[in-house]
Parts: sequence; structure tokens; C-alpha cells
Amino acid sequence: MKKMNKFMMMFAIALMAAFTFVSCTKEGPAGPAGKDGVDGENGINGVDGTATCVQCHDNSQTLFAKTNQWEHSTHATGGNFERNTGDCATCHTSQGFLGFHNGTYDPTAEGAAISNPNPPNCYTCHNIHSTYTTDDWALTMSGPVTLYNTTETPDFGNGSMCANCHQGRPVEPFPAVGGADITITSSRYGVHHGPQANVVKGVGLFMPGTGYANSAHSNISNTCVTCHMAEAYGTQAGGHTMYLGYDYHGTAELNTAGCATCHSDIDGMLAATEALQEEVAALLADLKTRLDELGATNPGSDNSVSGTFAPEVAGAVLNYKALTEDRSLGVHNPTYVKKVLNNTIAALPAK
Ligand code: HEC
Ligand code: HEC
Ligand code: HEC
Ligand code: HEC
Ligand code: HEC
Ligand code: HEC
Repeated sequence: MKKMNKFMMMFAIALMAAFTFVSCTKEGPAGPAGKDGVDGENGINGVDGTATCVQCHDNSQTLFAKTNQWEHSTHATGGNFERNTGDCATCHTSQGFLGFHNGTYDPTAEGAAISNPNPPNCYTCHNIHSTYTTDDWALTMSGPVTLYNTTETPDFGNGSMCANCHQGRPVEPFPAVGGADITITSSRYGVHHGPQANVVKGVGLFMPGTGYANSAHSNISNTCVTCHMAEAYGTQAGGHTMYLGYDYHGTAELNTAGCATCHSDIDGMLAATEALQEEVAALLADLKTRLDELGATNPGSDNSVSGTFAPEVAGAVLNYKALTEDRSLGVHNPTYVKKVLNNTIAALPAK
């Protein structure tokens, strides 16, 4: 205790001495006045952080309209985005699709899978939130599409966006006219659901015989988009629903908004559409009966039967499935579809 007090006392004395010294220092006379500074230039106004955002996020209701249409589309509601592994994820998930095309998702890698899979959505088709300007409405895919099962690379205009997914999947080995027999080992033999791009352009199907030609529908500018994304009928058809057929108080109707640019007689066109679809449905039914007789399919099922078949039979199974899954019953390419079906049936061996 004593020691401490002594130390504190010495410290206090030292402190007082220091203060005395400081207070002895006197202030000198004021120096000469400094030069008057020149005013600096005004700064440039900053850019409003949200100026470009409101080009899209405005009150025009456009974003809501497109979003509402999309929410009613099969893209949003189909539920098959759960097909999120390997190659399935390249068409069934948004991230797998973009990743496959920019090289960041390898569908052949062991156990390749997309976590938190999203169905096709705004970000799949548009560059949303890349530059945060309206430039982001640009489509993520454009130009010629390298289709599977063919060396052709057709350009669908804005429809190239669609053709990247709505095309036949690879078939190995693909039957060749007059070629080797084909051994079918799976009930799912064929090009899979959604081979619309092939049908529209008349490529990548089995094509026996001669006389093939495409309809004018093959070369419609922006193809799929012109017919499927025409002026919307509510949330039932057109626009971002992408449907063509809709229900009008119990009657099945077709959204003809996209057809009207070329077909001025809409009633005549609707009658021709109905006749065409009936004709194609009848040809498909004939083909199915023949495939059942040949043992390549069983009555009442579209599954293929495993076995070794002549290429004309395997090709007929492939065409039957592809033109059934196309689901336009000929409208995608009327001239071509009728020719393929007639030639396919004619090429089948007697049972
Ligand atoms: C090209 C048009 C466009 C521009 C420009 C744009 N956005 Fe968006 N934004 C969208 C779309 C489309 C969505 C997705 C809508 C949906 O999810 O249904 C979205 C969604 C959003 C969301 C909801 C959350 C999300 O990510 O889904 C926020 C928040 C947002 N944007 C903020 C902004 C901001 C901030 C800017 C500017 C810095 C901006 N956006 C610029 C089109 C745009
Ligand atoms: C990323 C791949 C992808 C792209 C791109 C894409 N689709 Fe699809 N589309 C699908 C899948 C997958 C389905 C089925 C969804 C499901 O069942 O979950 C589908 C379903 C549809 C359907 C509904 C069919 C039905 O069964 O009801 C239409 C119509 C359609 N797409 C048209 C288009 C059009 C037109 C475009 C281009 C503007 C397009 N799609 C672009 C993958 C895609
Ligand atoms: C090249 C793109 C592509 C690939 C790869 C792909 N699909 Fe699809 N799939 C589609 C499209 C497009 C549709 C929708 C077709 C339509 O509605 O006309 C579809 C539809 C489906 C459907 C719904 C059928 C129906 O009638 O509701 C199932 C189930 C399905 N695919 C499973 C798979 C599985 C499993 C794999 C992987 C083994 C796979 N898909 C790979 C494009 C693809
Ligand atoms: C399957 C692909 C696909 C999906 C998914 C999709 N779009 Fe689009 N969108 C397109 C195509 C193709 C066009 C061009 C249509 C045309 O040429 O008439 C387009 C056009 C637009 C336009 C007009 C752009 C412009 O330049 O003025 C807007 C706005 C838009 N889409 C919003 C959306 C929003 C919001 C979503 C998500 C809710 C969405 N889209 C999802 C394919 C798609
Ligand atoms: C870019 C122009 C164009 C558009 C868009 C268009 N068509 Fe056509 N369509 C034609 C022409 C030209 C023909 C006649 C020549 C041919 O088939 O090659 C035709 C022929 C047809 C045929 C008759 C086929 C036959 O068996 O003779 C039907 C049915 C048809 N169109 C339905 C439609 C429907 C439905 C739509 C809309 C969903 C549509 N078309 C959109 C140009 C168009
Ligand atoms: C000439 C106009 C036309 C063009 C071009 C066109 N489609 Fe279609 N599509 C139709 C018609 C008509 C149907 C049958 C609708 C019905 O009978 O209800 C159809 C049916 C479909 C279906 C079945 C689901 C539905 O809405 O009925 C899908 C999926 C589809 N088309 C996708 C495509 C894709 C992808 C492309 C481009 C590669 C394309 N279509 C080009 C007119 C067209």
C-alpha cells in the first residue's frame, strides 16, 4: 500500500511539472492570410439505381400478364422437372438446360443431377437480370439448331428456343431404309415425347420411299412462336401459355390468332384442319393395326415389343410414336406427315 502511494505521488508531481511547462509556451502572432481557394467543379449527378429496373418492373401489367400466362402453361404446371438427372435434366430442368448449352452441366457425368430443379421459366428463355436492362429480354438460344438423329441444322428463328427441347432424342441404332435389322430392347424405343421440331422441318424420321415435300408451315418465320405464342386467349391459349387448343364453354376451339396472317378464310381453314387431323388420325390407326399384326406393338398399348425386326418395322414403330407424340395430327407439316405415314405403311412387310 505504502509503496503504491509513493509511486502515485511521484507520478502526480511529474504531471504538474509537465503542465507548468506547457502553460509557459506562448502563442506567436497570426500568420498572413491564405490565398482564396477556387471553387471546385460540381460533381456529375449519379445514375438512379433503379432507372433501368423500371423498364420492366413498371405498372404496365406486362410482367404480370406474361407471368400469369406462363403460370398456366404446362411448362409451369407439368411437374416433370423432377426428371432432374443425367440427360433428362437438359430439357426438363431450367438449370440443366442452360448448363448443358454453356458447358457447365455434363449430363454424362456419373450421378449428374440438378439440385433445386426448376421447370422451364423466364430465366430459361430470357437473359433475366444479366444487364438489368430491357436487353435482357433477348432469348438465351437462337440460330441453327443441331438436331439429334440427323445431320441437318435448321434455323427456326425465335422458334429455335423451342426446338432445342422439342426435338427427338437420339436413337441408337437408327434404322436405315434397306439396312440392317434392328434389335429393340426397350418398351420406350423411339424418339421420346415432343419431336415437334423434326416434324415441322421434315427431318430425323424414318423415310422409306420417295415423293417427300414440306408444307409452307415448315418455313413460317419464327415457326413455333408464330402459331403458339400469338395473341393470348386469356390464360388458356397463345402468349406464354403456348397452347393452341382451348375450351370455350365446353367446346374445343383453336387459337387462330397466329394463323390469320396467312389464312384469310378462318372458317375454311378450321374445316381443313379438322379434315387433316381426321385423315392423319386414321392413318395412325391403320399403322398401329399393322404394327400389332407384326408383333412390334401390342393392341391397346403404344409400348414397343422387344425383339429383332426388319428396319422397315423398327422405323414404322419409331414413326408411329413420333407422329403420335407430335400431337398436331399433321398440322405441323401437312404434306410431309401424310407422305411419311403412307410410305411407312406401304414399306411394311406382309405379316
Ligand atoms: C428485362 C426485364 C427486367 C429488368 C430490366 C429487371 N428485372 Fe427484375 N425481374 C424480371 C423478371 C422477368 C423477373 C421474374 C419474375 C418472376 O419470378 O415471376 C424479375 C424478378 C425480380 C425480383 C423478384 C425476385 C426474383 O429474383 O425473382 C426482384 C426483387 C427484381 N426482379 C428486382 C429487379 C431490380 C432491382 C432490377 C434493376 C436493378 C431489375 N429487377 C431489373 C425482369 C426484369
Ligand atoms: C428447356 C426445354 C424447353 C423449351 C426451351 C421449351 N419447351 Fe415446351 N415443354 C418442355 C417440356 C419438358 C414440356 C413438358 C413439361 C412437363 O410435362 O413438365 C413442355 C411442354 C410444352 C407444351 C405443352 C404440351 C402439353 O403437354 O400440354 C407446349 C405447347 C410447349 N411446350 C411449347 C413450347 C414452345 C412454343 C416453346 C418455345 C417458345 C417451348 N415449348 C420451349 C420443354 C421445353
Ligand atoms: C431433348 C429434350 C428432352 C430430353 C433429353 C428428355 N425429354 Fe422428356 N420431354 C421433352 C419434351 C419437349 C416433353 C413434352 C412433350 C409434349 O408435351 O409434347 C417431354 C415430356 C416428358 C414426359 C411427359 C409425358 C406426358 O405425356 O405427360 C415424361 C414423363 C418425360 N418427358 C420423361 C423424360 C425422361 C425420364 C427423360 C430422360 C430419360 C427425358 N424425358 C428426357 C423433352 C425431353
Ligand atoms: C419457353 C421459352 C419462354 C419462357 C419460359 C418465357 N418466355 Fe418470354 N418470350 C419467349 C419468346 C420466344 C418471346 C418472343 C415472342 C415473339 O416473338 O412474339 C418472348 C417474349 C417475351 C416478352 C416480350 C419481350 C419484348 O422484347 O418486348 C416479355 C415481356 C416476356 N417474354 C416475358 C416473359 C416472362 C415474364 C416470363 C416468365 C414468367 C417469360 N417471358 C418466360 C419465350 C419464353
Ligand atoms: C406463314 C403462313 C401460314 C401460317 C401462319 C399458317 N399457315 Fe396454314 N397454310 C399456309 C399455306 C401457304 C398453306 C397451303 C400450302 C401448303 O400446305 O404448303 C397452308 C395449309 C394449311 C392447311 C391445309 C393442309 C392440307 O391438308 O392441305 C391447314 C389445315 C392449315 N394450313 C392450318 C393452319 C393453322 C391451324 C394455322 C395456325 C395455327 C396455320 N395454318 C398457320 C400458310 C400458313
Ligand atoms: C402452323 C402452325 C404451327 C406451327 C408452326 C407449330 N405448331 Fe405446334 N401445334 C399446332 C397445332 C394446330 C397443334 C394442335 C392443337 C390441337 O389440335 O389442339 C399443335 C400442337 C402442338 C403441341 C401439343 C400441345 C398442344 O398445344 O396441343 C406441341 C407441344 C407443339 N405443337 C409444339 C410446337 C413446336 C415446338 C413447334 C416448333 C418446332 C410448333 N409446335 C410449331 C400448330 C403449329
